[in-house]
Amino acid sequence: MNTDLQKYIDTTSHYFQEKYGVAPSLVAYAPGRINIIGEHTDYNFGLAMPAAINRWVVVCLRPRPDQIISVTSQNYHDTMEFTLGTAFEPSKSWQKYTYGSITIFGGQFPIQKGFDAVIWGNVPIGSGVSSSAAMEVALMNALRAAYQADMDDFALVKLCQRVEHEYLKVNSGLLDQYASQFSRIGKLMILDFNALSSEYVDADMKDWTWILADTKVKRELAGSKYSERVQETANALKEIQQKNPAVKGFRDITVEDIGSISDASQEKRIQHLVSENLRVQEAAKALQEQNFTALGNILTASHVSLRDDYEVSCPELDFLVDAALQLPYCAGSRMMGGGFGGCTINLVRKDSVLKFSNFLTDEYAREYDIITEITNYQLVDGAGSYLV
Ligand code: GLA
Repeated sequence: MNTDLQKYIDTTSHYFQEKYGVAPSLVAYAPGRINIIGEHTDYNFGLAMPAAINRWVVVCLRPRPDQIISVTSQNYHDTMEFTLGTAFEPSKSWQKYTYGSITIFGGQFPIQKGFDAVIWGNVPIGSGVSSSAAMEVALMNALRAAYQADMDDFALVKLCQRVEHEYLKVNSGLLDQYASQFSRIGKLMILDFNALSSEYVDADMKDWTWILADTKVKRELAGSKYSERVQETANALKEIQQKNPAVKGFRDITVEDIGSISDASQEKRIQHLVSENLRVQEAAKALQEQNFTALGNILTASHVSLRDDYEVSCPELDFLVDAALQLPYCAGSRMMGGGFGGCTINLVRKDSVLKFSNFLTDEYAREYDIITEITNYQLVDGAGSYLV
């Protein structure tokens, strides 16, 4: 077990003891994630390359003999309580994730008795490293263990995705939950959302490392244009299929098909999708060949595509990317995650991380009067749970 994770678990367990007066009987945890490349491809059956990071959401739980469910968020210093079988209206965002996870799980595996739980996490919230997925995945792992539900990991991440769809009204893909559940220490995953398969590749970067820079601009996906993009690409696919019945799904779309889309915005969205899938394959090849110059260029090309074709960037993200690209020891840079805020991911020489960090911090503060946060995450194993 990662020593930092163990520390967080011990602290969460301590919070549980303080709040409920007894020790928890089970622990579950799930990490946040980065994504090297393959953005806004998951809900369109494309490719991506995520990995879990050393930031987690921890759930400590103890079953109760009655029908009450009491969940405390240590991050929000807030407790929600409801009785099974009675109506409950979650008001705050963390409560929606919690209530959504419990209700969707309960719909599949009927719950007879309640529990007490404390949730605590150190995955940065609203930074594009999937704190919400980590929370759903951690809680779903806790519920599976508590109620001994016969459910495999894939079914589990699908239930978590339903929380986003049904309780947050965001039609997101499986990238975040999949990465949080299935990642392996020191590895990147090449994920194919069409085949629903993943392959682990070595993340050994020699003289290079991945550095994240946070714009500190927080835009919740629900409030963003995320759902609009989901709709645009779905509409474009429909139009392509009407004109070319040989296209069974997004992955069959060719360059000629893109040209046949009548709406200019939708054409750009599909252009991004098709080119981004190719970039994931090229990035995998560059990694394998340890060609970091090529890898950096692919990263930067992804940013241009997300900015100009998919239009999910924002001035702060563009600024950080442009600043990073001025530096000879940065091979490539792009926005990461859903966009409209959050982080950039940068490929930086290990011996220049400090210089990189100082330069970006100064430039960003000068332009926006905001202190960016620069982080070098470790790649860790996916979610887990155990009885104590
Ligand atoms: C968010 C969503 C993911 C994915 C990314 C963009 O993180 O939750 O499903 O679509 O944006 O790649």
